[in-house]
Amino acid sequence: TRLIVTARDGSRHDVEAQDGLSVMEVLRPLGIGIAGECEGSAACASCHVWVDAAWLARLPEPEDAEADMLDCAFNTRAGSRLSCQLRVGPELDGLELAMPHA
Ligand code: FES
Repeated sequence: TRLIVTARDGSRHDVEAQDGLSVMEVLRPLGIGIAGECEGSAACASCHVWVDAAWLARLPEPEDAEADMLDCAFNTRAGSRLSCQLRVGPELDGLELAMPHA
């Protein structure tokens, strides 16, 4: 499954993601600022990403824990999601997301 990620410096990364992993687990090794400090428990917001507007409606709604944590995250906007709560699968092929910045 292919993900297209824009880093804070504007560089774009075409990432081949293994199905079944969380998007956080795919992004963390890239070294573009995804820390994943709580290891995917929706408890730290260090995996916050901005999902492209065209993709938002195609993703499952955030569960309460994710929504609550996003309330505490910096630079949130309409497409904000916790990448640890997004599971890679064929339905995400071509997903575009960006690292949040001010
Ligand atoms: Fe902590 Fe996603 S890794 S909220």
